[in-house]
Amino acid sequence: MKILFADKFPAARLEHLRGAGHECVLEPDLTADRLPSKVGGFEALVVRSTRVEAGTLAAGEGLKLVIRAGAGTNTIDKAAASERGVRVCNVPGRNAVAVAELTLGLLIAIDRRIPDNVADLRDGRWNKKRWSEAQGLFGRSMGIVGFGAIGMAVADRAWAFGLKLHGVYKAGRPIEVQNRLASLGVECVDDLETLAERCDILSFHVPGTEETRGMLGRALLERVRPGAIVLNLSRGDVVDEEALIEAMDGKGVRAGLDVYANEPGSGEAEIDSPLACHPNVYGTHHIGASTAQAQDAVADGVVEILDAYQAGEVLNCVNEQLQGDGQ
Ligand code: 3PG
Repeated sequence: MKILFADKFPAARLEHLRGAGHECVLEPDLTADRLPSKVGGFEALVVRSTRVEAGTLAAGEGLKLVIRAGAGTNTIDKAAASERGVRVCNVPGRNAVAVAELTLGLLIAIDRRIPDNVADLRDGRWNKKRWSEAQGLFGRSMGIVGFGAIGMAVADRAWAFGLKLHGVYKAGRPIEVQNRLASLGVECVDDLETLAERCDILSFHVPGTEETRGMLGRALLERVRPGAIVLNLSRGDVVDEEALIEAMDGKGVRAGLDVYANEPGSGEAEIDSPLACHPNVYGTHHIGASTAQAQDAVADGVVEILDAYQAGEVLNCVNEQLQGDGQ
């Protein structure tokens, strides 16, 4: 197959694919705007967060497969892909540990104010007095919203820190998930509002969909405890950013964020985000999945999808209309 990689891809996996006879073109700096002019002639397109819009799908005559080298597919126009019979496949779960590690990293950073500590020392200021203010995490209550692979990996790690874990009850969770939640002592409440009232820390691990847009909005933030910590490493528009700023100004909520509503889709760009600049926010650059371990694991998943496709099987197809069809 002729495959275009529009984001970084580990060299060893690329060599494996070339060795299997595929023609692989690596263009890691391609932007969403430039994709339509490049995609012609390729049968498969592999992307991370680079947006795949209707224009790219229209320009991609011969394109049969778009592989999202990661979990979230909100950056891909799945409806346009379905109309053209293009399969969209993702690689869920493989970067869950990396996202969970950053979640706990941001949580500890907030509690101990690590970035501000570091900034003062770098400026030659010793300020043990100010930066000694920390509550500690042990025994505090943490609400996890979403118990997919990432939420579960967060729960495992948070449990090890002695946090008391809570979630929202959901009918139909697989028995393995129910058993794991029980073994971690996760107490499930009836709704998000109760979760917000009950917890010192709230962490969001949900996909970016119409249902989750604005989930952490004004109404929920009213129920959040004063001084609570909120963590969002899922998708930017899960948070109503204006409402979060109000809650930070009004009742001292603090936030650890890896994603933003208007975040750029490329590796380097300007960002104009009042939320990311707010002093109560420790923000990272949507790097949750960006460890070498996670990227190797995701790349293995991409190779599996390509190998299966060659053998006539479509793995992890997310465009509902095309699921179950053969090639
Ligand atoms: C995902 O959806 O898998 C994560 O948000 C990671 O996205 P990225 O591969 O663009 O960093």
